[in-house]
Amino acid sequence: MISVKNIYHDYEGRGNFAVSDVSFSIEKGRIFGFLGPSGAGKSTVQNIMTGLLSLQRGEVLYDGQPIQSLKTKFFNQIGVSFEQPNVYAKLTGLENLKYFAALFSVPTRDPMELLDRVGLREAANKKANDYSKGMRQRLTLARALINSPRYLFLDEPTNGLDPSTAASVRELIREERDRGAEVFLTTHNMELADSLCDAVAFINEGKISAMDSPDALKLRYGKRRVAVLFREGEQEKTETFELDDRQALADFLLRVDPIKVHSQEATLEEIFLRVTGKELTA
Ligand SMILES: Nc1ncnc2c1ncn2[C@@H]1O[C@H](COP(=O)(O)OP(=O)(O)OP(=O)(O)O)[C@@H](O)[C@H]1O
Ligand SMILES: [Mg+2]
Repeated sequence: MISVKNIYHDYEGRGNFAVSDVSFSIEKGRIFGFLGPSGAGKSTVQNIMTGLLSLQRGEVLYDGQPIQSLKTKFFNQIGVSFEQPNVYAKLTGLENLKYFAALFSVPTRDPMELLDRVGLREAANKKANDYSKGMRQRLTLARALINSPRYLFLDEPTNGLDPSTAASVRELIREERDRGAEVFLTTHNMELADSLCDAVAFINEGKISAMDSPDALKLRYGKRRVAVLFREGEQEKTETFELDDRQALADFLLRVDPIKVHSQEATLEEIFLRVTGKELTA
């Protein structure tokens, strides 16, 4: 379990906190989504949790051990995929993975098998420099998985990927969770968060403004709606009603020729907007 307790970060030492009073925990075998607009403080938190930024205030505990007390063993147990691809441009995909595998003192995964899983088997012997942006990103993900990490940090893992590669990356992340990793996932992509995460936190201007499972957030903040598909002359049309407004729905149903009525859930995107007053993609 990873516990983050009341962390703060001030980059310039002038009392301007990029992150303030952030607390959450991630249990073993769970995917935790960290969602917020650009500049919200997501990468800052990930960098503190992985030791790239020093911990200024608060606590980060790995199975109860403070991050400051963790040494090489910890390095063997984490996998990090950064926003910017952290691979060597002059090496091929395969050489990159072999190189990084050799840095660990724990058993590592077969580089070729991993390249295959991220759709890079064909490009295994091509220099990373000649990869497209999406390919480099997939190589970065493969790098993060090479040591079968217990703690996995992923910053925007499906950005810029085509739908089928994005789907296979999702599946790969689920497998990591299922083998018992704690996964910290940073994203703007609400749909990804909804489909993958056991719990999510909304972060806005350095503070957490809501945190729960996606379903619980939808129940708490989402307005329940129904969509009515109806016939008008030769056409089929749809009209949407909030369940609070039952009279309008009832009147409408009596007036038209309904074909189908189905309930609609609020999306995490809409809930984020309601909770923070901000668009996530801003
Ligand atoms: N090295 C730095 N020095 C000073 N300020 C920084 C530094 N890095 C980040 N910040 C500031 O801290 C705040 C949070 O930035 P952070 O990179 O954590 O956001 P983010 O949520 O990861 O955004 P994005 O979605 O764009 O990646 C921003 O106001 C940013 O300008
Ligand atoms: Mg970031």
